[in-house]
Amino acid sequence: MSIVFLNGEFENAEQAKVSVFDRGFLLGDGVYEVIPAYSGALFRIEEHLDRLQQSLDAIRLTNPYSHSQWQGILNDLVKQNNHTDASVYLQVTRGVAIRDHAFPSDVRPTVFAMVNKITPLSADYYENGVAAITLDDNRWSRCNIKAISLLPNVLLRQQAVDQGVAEAILIRDGFVTEGAASNAFAVINGVVTTPPKNEHLLPGITRDLVMEMAKQHGIPNAESQISLAQLQSADEVWLTSSTKEILPVTQLDKKSVGSGKPGDIWHRMSKIYGHFKKTLHL
Ligand code: PDD
Repeated sequence: MSIVFLNGEFENAEQAKVSVFDRGFLLGDGVYEVIPAYSGALFRIEEHLDRLQQSLDAIRLTNPYSHSQWQGILNDLVKQNNHTDASVYLQVTRGVAIRDHAFPSDVRPTVFAMVNKITPLSADYYENGVAAITLDDNRWSRCNIKAISLLPNVLLRQQAVDQGVAEAILIRDGFVTEGAASNAFAVINGVVTTPPKNEHLLPGITRDLVMEMAKQHGIPNAESQISLAQLQSADEVWLTSSTKEILPVTQLDKKSVGSGKPGDIWHRMSKIYGHFKKTLHL
């Protein structure tokens, strides 16, 4: 049985209970993080905790824990659940109060964390890539907050699933923002390109790491807007997230991307990423 963390206690998942008056449940009033743990070690934990702080600041909620307290709790939780590779999900909501849109006074945030086993994506995904569609980005203009209110993302992702593809790449005013649950990259004339950070996309930890590694290894890279036409004619398209790492998209809106196979630069980047992960545990 899995062990979860709820409001200061480690408990069996079946026993953990949250009030029906929790503002996360009633209003989607909270923020979250998803952090991979490889061989029991939390990956890019400082970066995830910094982003958590930014999300909490954006919704005007005090962080219930310091970085080192969070690290203590999450490391403990990973240990207790004993998976080799796992993803830690944590969420902080504004707490339990009589339903009212305005902030309640004197309320304690609800803090919840759980660990899920990472099931590696099928090797076929990496050998042949995945299919994606483009959809109009109809979300709000504060997508840089990692908010638990994910209904627009849920509906967009479901449209992708309904069409039998892995992800929806979102287009706002003619330009790529990100995927429904991932960041988007295009290789354009040999340059690894991803949209600059702004309020229309989540500042992905994997995105930042990929850009950092491209710089370190002398792979041409740019943070610049990608038009729909550029995406459609790109040599390579990738999606990144903490759980999917770097996923090659080889079919977009039913047409082949580049050669229709994961591209050379993806192969190179994927190797660098895998090596980076391994060196952490030496
Ligand atoms: N989502 N953009 C969106 C909208 C996302 O939901 C995610 C990740 C990302 C990638 O961010 P990162 O590299 O930090 O994981 C970008 C997580 C995995 C989720 O909601 O499950």
